[in-house]
Amino acid sequence: MLQRRVTFLEYSCDAWALALTPPNPHVSLRDGMNATSSSRARKRISVIPGDGIGKEVIPEAVKVLRSAVASGGREVALTEFDWGADRYLRDGTTLPADAVQMLRRDFDAILLGAMGDPRVPTNIHAAEILLGLRFKLDLYVNARPCVLFDKRFTPLKDRTEKDVNFMVFRENTEGLYVGMGGNFKKGTADEVAIQEDVNTRKGVERIIRYAYGYAKRRGLQRVCMSDKSNALTFGHDLWQRVFKEVRAEYPGIESSHQYIDNLLMQMVRDPAQFQVIVTSNLFGDIASDLGAQLAGGLGLAPSGNIHPGQVSLFEPVHGSAPNIAGKGIANPMGAILTVGMMFEFLGWEAEAQAIDKAVRAALKEGKTPAELGGALSTREVGDWVANAVAKSGVAS
Ligand code: NAD
Ligand code: IPM
Ligand code: MN
Repeated sequence: MLQRRVTFLEYSCDAWALALTPPNPHVSLRDGMNATSSSRARKRISVIPGDGIGKEVIPEAVKVLRSAVASGGREVALTEFDWGADRYLRDGTTLPADAVQMLRRDFDAILLGAMGDPRVPTNIHAAEILLGLRFKLDLYVNARPCVLFDKRFTPLKDRTEKDVNFMVFRENTEGLYVGMGGNFKKGTADEVAIQEDVNTRKGVERIIRYAYGYAKRRGLQRVCMSDKSNALTFGHDLWQRVFKEVRAEYPGIESSHQYIDNLLMQMVRDPAQFQVIVTSNLFGDIASDLGAQLAGGLGLAPSGNIHPGQVSLFEPVHGSAPNIAGKGIANPMGAILTVGMMFEFLGWEAEAQAIDKAVRAALKEGKTPAELGGALSTREVGDWVANAVAKSGVAS
């Protein structure tokens, strides 16, 4: 648990710092998910638990974060913000006016739970906080790894760990998510509703380039771009043209294209064909929930909303799950693995690996919550993983 819950206005004086022994020497950066240009050893992380099970899984993720930080001799300062449905219903605040400026100035990374509450049927607070941060911080890469840690947990028959191991890169700042459009004659029989799909040359190019750069750095052989250019003949024709240009710069990588309907079918039929998938905002949202389930469950899936070199936001792929919220049974492993992704982004690779190893051990030993067929509560899973990290330590 965080020691202090601070509201936005008092954040600067009440940030809680965990000061430990001097940090290890800086480890090499991985995957281009490089941290902010600052070489500051102490990392400043803002924590936004949000709604529903976000408030249950984030304390467990923070517990594991603390364990890894302590074992690795690192130093972090955590500051919690109460943005979410409760705050919105209390005083109308969604994303405070100067939040973006403050996050850019005072933080290296953001850890978020989930946004969404049945008491806010418009979802306005989620749109303004979550989508607001993605857009305003220009977090154009949504990285969603789909990695099966233990073959017992995939619903696919006869598939093993080697078959489900790919990354979905979802464009995260445009597409159908930008909120351009409107209604005409709303509420009448003649109503018109328009939602614009915005695709820019810059936006499409930078996400496709990122996917190739990632494949190259990792020594991967295959990148698959997915769109619906057979029907979306303006927006996704742009994806086609940009893809052809960028792929030509990477002759060593096998490039392929699949329409999104086929892609989703192929993910089920033969997931082993994929290493890197790159696609638009909405398609990536859909593909990543499917990929999460192929890899064991939505509650196991981490993600990063990244702008290389700038403050970036890390969150599990799942939502606030109102159907199980408050029961203490949500799987915190996705949120815990999200901390691993955040550490990797910050350049703390050994800590990231320690978390990965501990989650794998929990799965192997059946220390799992209901989602994965186990009997452990959210808190018990968090305790077990945090202990496992402490016991095996962080390799220096
Ligand atoms: P959801 O991801 O919240 O839940 C889908 C299903 O998966 C539910 O059956 C839920 O119980 C289960 N599930 C999800 N996470 C789990 C976990 N950690 N452990 C065990 N089971 C888990 O999606 P939904 O039901 O479509 O959406 C609920 C709310 O969350 C909505 O308001 C939606 O807009 C919001 N949402 C937010 C985010 C986010 O903040 N990133 C993501 C998705 C959905
Ligand atoms: C996600 C979520 C969000 C999205 C919702 C809550 C707007 O489903 O992060 O995957 O569609 O991006
Ligand atoms: Mn989603």
